[in-house]
Amino acid sequence: MLDNIKALQQEIENATASTPDEVEMLRIKYISKKGSISQLFSDFKNVPNDQKKEVGKALNDLKTSALDKINMLREGFLSKESESGETDVTRPGEPLKAGTRHPLSLVKNEIIRIFGRLGFTVAEGPEIEDDWHVFSALNFPPEHPARDMQDTFFISRNPDVLLRTHTSSVQIRVMERSQPPIRAIFPGRVFRNEAISARSHCIFHQVEGLYVDENVSFADLKQTLLYFARDLFGENTRIRLRPSYFPFTEPSAEMDVSCSICGGKGCNVCKYSGWLEILGCGMVDPNVLEACSIDSKKYTGFAFGMGIERIAMLRYGIRDIRHFFENDLRFLKQFESTL
Ligand code: PHE
Repeated sequence: MLDNIKALQQEIENATASTPDEVEMLRIKYISKKGSISQLFSDFKNVPNDQKKEVGKALNDLKTSALDKINMLREGFLSKESESGETDVTRPGEPLKAGTRHPLSLVKNEIIRIFGRLGFTVAEGPEIEDDWHVFSALNFPPEHPARDMQDTFFISRNPDVLLRTHTSSVQIRVMERSQPPIRAIFPGRVFRNEAISARSHCIFHQVEGLYVDENVSFADLKQTLLYFARDLFGENTRIRLRPSYFPFTEPSAEMDVSCSICGGKGCNVCKYSGWLEILGCGMVDPNVLEACSIDSKKYTGFAFGMGIERIAMLRYGIRDIRHFFENDLRFLKQFESTL
């Protein structure tokens, strides 16, 4: 019996396996219920009593070393598995991917950064407004169509509770609570009762700008906007101001930038004009300053307002405004590392 044990010990020590299946075969051969070591254990009862102590110990040692050997062979294959890229159960889990910034936030932050360098601070106002801040203080005449249910969302039957149709309402709130010099921009969400299509939505975002001080001129407005356009769309960008009308500015203008897609040569984005309209602006109407108790003899100011969706669409070549509000991950994930 002792000789058998010695021989088996030797055999197991020399055993090798080149696949996990071969390890399993060794386990079956030596230590499964019908394996040769188990066989020896069942023969143990025939060992003469005086040899039982010695043989028993040898038998237990044999079993322990067989188990060790098989575990060792198995582990060798586990670490090989991880080298070849297959499952390694001891590896730590994959980290969760962080979310990405929404393209509208990226563009908004960029606009805040550019005006921040010119000394503009950021202020916000409420989305649910009253007639005074959205219309009356901004010099809208009583019969202006924007006051119509067709264009403006009213919250209740009370015509004095409405969703702001532009961020110009924040101009009024800021001028009511502070005297010049005022130099700030107001980003925010606005609402208009419009049919939803690829080009327009009933919810969108604007950034408003306001600068009021002594001797602020139209030249200041023009230079500020040129600086902004060049920073946002590139050094070679040109701007063009076209006369326009807003109740709260006089004179008023709309600003175009040279098309950043074709460089002004003409393409289907700029409808072959070479220009893209991006904002409305003008000198703050004296009536607006007076409505906020600011002396219009002493102070002048300029204001401008732009749509964030429109700028983001131009910047990223997005053709449908509805993408911004659908939260489709395939859309959102494209903006991971931009800006
Ligand atoms: N409030 C105007 C709009 O929504 C934009 C604007 C702001 C124009 C400030 C002039 C001055 O279209």
